[in-house]
Amino acid sequence: MTYETVLVDRQDHVVTITLNRPAALNAQNNPMRRELFGVFADLRQDEDVRAIVVTGAGERAFSAGADIKEFLEPPVPTRFREQRKRLDYRGEMDRCPQPIIAAIRGFALGGGLELALACDIRIAAEDAQLGLTEVNLGIIPGGGGTQRLPRVVGRGKALEMILTGARMTADEALRIGLVERVVPVALLIPAALALARAMADKAPIALRYAKEAVVSGLGMSLADGLRLENDLSTLLRTTEDRVEGARAFVEKRKPKWSGQ
Ligand code: COA
Repeated sequence: MTYETVLVDRQDHVVTITLNRPAALNAQNNPMRRELFGVFADLRQDEDVRAIVVTGAGERAFSAGADIKEFLEPPVPTRFREQRKRLDYRGEMDRCPQPIIAAIRGFALGGGLELALACDIRIAAEDAQLGLTEVNLGIIPGGGGTQRLPRVVGRGKALEMILTGARMTADEALRIGLVERVVPVALLIPAALALARAMADKAPIALRYAKEAVVSGLGMSLADGLRLENDLSTLLRTTEDRVEGARAFVEKRKPKWSGQ
């Protein structure tokens, strides 16, 4: 399938989504939001896809946020609820059982950083500049930024970033835990793909349950989270892949996962 604003590339079990409006620094307009909604809605139901990488086309940006030029157009009226819903692609990302890795080069500002925050793991190139810059435009982050950022970097740092609208470097982002890794620009995509492949190489059901235990557990009390972990790990004991994993270890070979 071809899209107007994104590129979708599939290699074995790994899908790479590239935001593709480089002339506008990959700013997210409504067509891009709708396409991202459709792409993630499809991917989350595709059991053959085991890991997803999100990145931006061109040399300058992951995404410079919402398309500011659209701010001057009338918004989609509330009565078109279905249309409005299809602009919130991040809900579909939240429902993805696969790990999603953001590969950030250049600017990740406003909705661009919010997109990266909706990913599970963030890798930045050395030239990355990150910030929730909405207050500079008289608005606040509306794509999850006020909620996801403090959960990643803590209340004080999130408030500092959101209330000043300032940008930070990749090194600073690494220091505060906003990104997991910083790599030279040329190694960004190879590093993200290598990480995605390392995950995609694991038993598919174990991979999904491990993500579910961590992500869902973070929204629960410790006791409820431990119960969830116990339930999921008990369910996994019934899989063929669990037997295959142990057998491959004993036979000193690579496991062949059936996904059952
Ligand atoms: N929406 C729409 N277009 C955008 C954009 C955005 N968020 N960010 C950049 N662009 C466009 C510019 O309008 C310009 O297009 P043009 O050549 O047709 O004029 C092109 O991308 C290049 O951007 P430019 O501003 O010329 O590059 P720069 O190097 O001088 O500055 C930024 C780069 C990222 C600092 C600057 O573009 C910027 O501040 N963008 C807005 C970031 C932001 O506040 N995002 C949050 C939105 S809620």
